[in-house]
Amino acid sequence: MKKKDIIEGIVNKVIFPNKGIINIDEEKVIVKNVIPGQKIKARITKKRKNKIEGRAIEIVEKSPLEIEASCKDFGKCGGCLYQSLPYEKQLKIKETQVLELMETLGIDYNYEGITPSPNIFNYRNKMEYSFGDEYIDGPLALGMHKKGGFYDIVTVNDCKIVSNDFNKILVETLNYFTEKEIPYYKKKSHEGYLRHLVVRKATKTNEILINLVSSSQMNPNLEQWIERLSNLQLEGEIVSIMHTINDSLADAVKVDSMKNLYGRDYFIEELLGLKFRISAHSFFQTNSLGAEKLYSVVREYVGETKDKVIFDLYSGTGTITQMLAPVAKKTVGVEIIEEAVEAAKENASLNGLDNCEFIAGDVLKVIDELKDKPDIIVLDPPRDGIHPKALKKIIDFGVDKIVYVSCKPTSLVRDLDVFLENGYEVDRVRCVDMFPHTVHVECCVKLIRKD
Ligand SMILES: C[S@@+](CC[C@H](N)C(=O)[O-])C[C@H]1O[C@@H](n2cnc3c(N)ncnc32)[C@H](O)[C@@H]1O
Repeated sequence: MKKKDIIEGIVNKVIFPNKGIINIDEEKVIVKNVIPGQKIKARITKKRKNKIEGRAIEIVEKSPLEIEASCKDFGKCGGCLYQSLPYEKQLKIKETQVLELMETLGIDYNYEGITPSPNIFNYRNKMEYSFGDEYIDGPLALGMHKKGGFYDIVTVNDCKIVSNDFNKILVETLNYFTEKEIPYYKKKSHEGYLRHLVVRKATKTNEILINLVSSSQMNPNLEQWIERLSNLQLEGEIVSIMHTINDSLADAVKVDSMKNLYGRDYFIEELLGLKFRISAHSFFQTNSLGAEKLYSVVREYVGETKDKVIFDLYSGTGTITQMLAPVAKKTVGVEIIEEAVEAAKENASLNGLDNCEFIAGDVLKVIDELKDKPDIIVLDPPRDGIHPKALKKIIDFGVDKIVYVSCKPTSLVRDLDVFLENGYEVDRVRCVDMFPHTVHVECCVKLIRKD
């Protein structure tokens, strides 16, 4: 087998997050974005000593596991990979992937299964759409990146994992800017105006926040766009329209400046009886009902908290910090995004909690300045996991109990290995599916100190 060869074979299994394994003779080829059981034709793109990679060019035969996907854009859109699998099969794949990664640690622990998402459609409270075109020099498109693509955009105007309000807002926005002939920002030449449209809708309160992200290269009047959005017949209510200017070269939503165009600059969601003000760029779990399941597991793993000081590191808008506060002596949240910390403080007073403290800054640095001594630590880092130096400092606190929440099991297992080398053992593990039809899964781990 050599580079550019075409191979054909059946996907044996998929390892986290989306790497399909096809066995050809004695060799293993890794092909991304495929489903177990599919017969795939792939072109070899890389051949190294112990790693062969290919790119799928055709699905020759469907997997016997597959059913009809309900979304018209399934297969094209890079958002969902597993929509053509029954939900139980999706859960099984995710669970097996996590268990196989955990197996590399060579330890015994209590595995407590995978909690399904309460809803498998219409579950997301946030979408970050990109402006672009579906093909070179095609008409303006607004939606998700094409599967396996960096430039092409699929206009997802009937997405099933969000409520129909998202689709209506997307279509109206796309029509408006198409009519006005406003160009999208081109990632190669860095020219153009429209970059992203972020829509967030609370599942419990139905409040909607819309955030248009553009470059500063034009200054069109957005009044008519706002008016058209206000005239939409929606189930929810638009309470905020924001405009973010982002001139950075990276293809991510970054903030150079932000303006409030309509209503307030936040929306409110409720979780487990608490209210949360969420601003345009604050992290908030994207599946509100799933988050209640996840946080219930966190609460259970944290256990007895009376008279205890709890650190919630990587706290976002302070959801976990506040959820644990009513039954603890004190909780301290640390979060890098200042806007999220401000929201967390306001949320705490909104919820009548006076024993929560929130500190803005990098965990790596802030940890040296914390005056309290923790009894229990909760960790919920971003996808890349915990910075090795921060990890060492966390271990140095020497607490008896740590609860680690992770949205990327590969990062989790890497960090768990360090905890295991430093006197901790894994007691309990539970997966929670917050992202039906996608390859992602959330894990919650309880660590205890051996001595
Ligand atoms: C997975 S989110 C968890 C948020 C929160 N626990 C929740 O459930 O809503 C991770 C959070 O870590 C924050 N973050 C990323 N790097 C950080 C760092 N070095 N120090 C502090 N916070 C950081 C992100 O802004 C994000 O809010």
